Amino acid sequence: MIPNAEFEQQISCRLGAERKHLDPCTLIIFGASGDLTARKLIPALYHLYLEKQMPAVFRIIGMARREKTDEPWRSELRQALQQYSRTVNVKDEDWEAFASNIAYCHGDLTDPAAYDLLKRTIESAEGEPLRRNLLFYLATLPSQFAPAAEHLQASGLLHKGHSPKGGWQRIVIEKPFGHDLESAQELNRELTSFADEEQIFRIDHYLGKETVQNILMFRFSNSIFERLWNRDSVEHVQITVSESIGVGSRGGYYEEAGALRDMVQNHLLQVLSLISMEPPVSLDAEAIRDEKVKLLRSIHPFTPADIVRNVVRGQYFAGIVNGDPRPGYRQEPRVKSDSNVETYVALKLFIDNWRWSGVPFYLRTGKNLPLSASEIRVQFRPTPYVLFAAQCGQQLDANSLTLRLQPNEGITMRFNGKVPGTSVQVRPVRMHFSYDSEFGAYTPEAYERLLLEAMAGDPTLFIRRDEVEIAWELADSIRSGWDGKALTNREFYAAGTWGPVAADEMLAGAGQHWREPMALKPG
Ligand code: BG6
Repeated sequence: MIPNAEFEQQISCRLGAERKHLDPCTLIIFGASGDLTARKLIPALYHLYLEKQMPAVFRIIGMARREKTDEPWRSELRQALQQYSRTVNVKDEDWEAFASNIAYCHGDLTDPAAYDLLKRTIESAEGEPLRRNLLFYLATLPSQFAPAAEHLQASGLLHKGHSPKGGWQRIVIEKPFGHDLESAQELNRELTSFADEEQIFRIDHYLGKETVQNILMFRFSNSIFERLWNRDSVEHVQITVSESIGVGSRGGYYEEAGALRDMVQNHLLQVLSLISMEPPVSLDAEAIRDEKVKLLRSIHPFTPADIVRNVVRGQYFAGIVNGDPRPGYRQEPRVKSDSNVETYVALKLFIDNWRWSGVPFYLRTGKNLPLSASEIRVQFRPTPYVLFAAQCGQQLDANSLTLRLQPNEGITMRFNGKVPGTSVQVRPVRMHFSYDSEFGAYTPEAYERLLLEAMAGDPTLFIRRDEVEIAWELADSIRSGWDGKALTNREFYAAGTWGPVAADEMLAGAGQHWREPMALKPG
């Protein structure tokens, strides 16, 4: 047996605990007065700072339309940090040291003069690297992505390719990246006329989650599972991303998006590609992204008949989630009273390759479901013959492996065991790995990892141009099957239930049923 300390040392060696080299740089956040900045970006940067993961020298400049100076902005950020971040007590001295690197730049992104002011603010830094290494984070309205990049280039702040003055410039683009294939292609064309693909970092925050990153580690560092990871052993796979929150104040955005664009086109397809892709030839960003793209390309195209048979959309009506009464989607603020926008999607897809041919992948996501939980359940084939049929009946639970992505992150193996006693009784039991009990409660927020990688210039956890376009192609093909069709009664579900009955029927037709995520306790 390996003694514990040695075991841990071996593990951390293998996982390469080395820190990435980070150049001094300036982060410029466009859309600095928005929610994302206060709730996610600044807390993530603050935690990186506390953990000494930020570059030795850095600056953060927030740019937004509201008139403000540095100090009031800093105190707003501090309040938000206290309210939303995982750090319960923000220490004065830590915050002040961190906040001394933060500046506010008032300006309208559509106004060229704003970029002159931004340039002066950037140039006011001491030291050449802070003036040349620039990370532009576009947390703005999507319609401003391309114009902002154009202004940045025109003002000399963004250079396509290598900057003549040295240093690097990168742009980070928040989602949504387009709203269909055409708009994504257009945006790609525009952005790549101002910056090289290597300078563009398209965010899907699911890729920043520890548990999502662990999918590759889990698959490709364990031989026992990978051998079962194919059509011979796997009966089907279920990917669930359920949310117990409704649309709330985001009705305006959601009316344009819907669950397919908001969740399936990005987060669910990303999770799908990681769980089912082939091993990459190396851990190089392009090698990993090549495999993801290959997988997405192998998804069997949806014909109009498939959309009717294998895709279910749904919309919640008023109901109760965990004792809390919720309005129907059509009653949410800024939602049309006859809206047909989907707040739920379930679909069955096939992957046309040697590994997965014929294995159904079921994906579902929805708002106002009973529980917020994301998980992947790999359902294995049943035993070829039930030896215990006389004692337990013909139905023996098939084995499964569940990767719980959030919350109560962990991995659970389900298999059958004998119930102790003199009679022969078999029942499913669980073997469980929990992140909390193994590694302690600390799990970095997705944005910490993503910001770090963007500063380091590593694109592995970001979406490549071809990847985003293929994902849109798939989403568009589904959407076109819905166009002009009103939701039917089978597609509505009460808030607080697991989605429309049509989704249950889709699985029942294949002799399956949805495996609901469990409300696990931490540890
Ligand atoms: C966002 C969607 O991308 O992801 C939201 O726009 C959704 O609608 C959110 O609530 C879910 O993210 P998480 O990290 O809470 O699972």
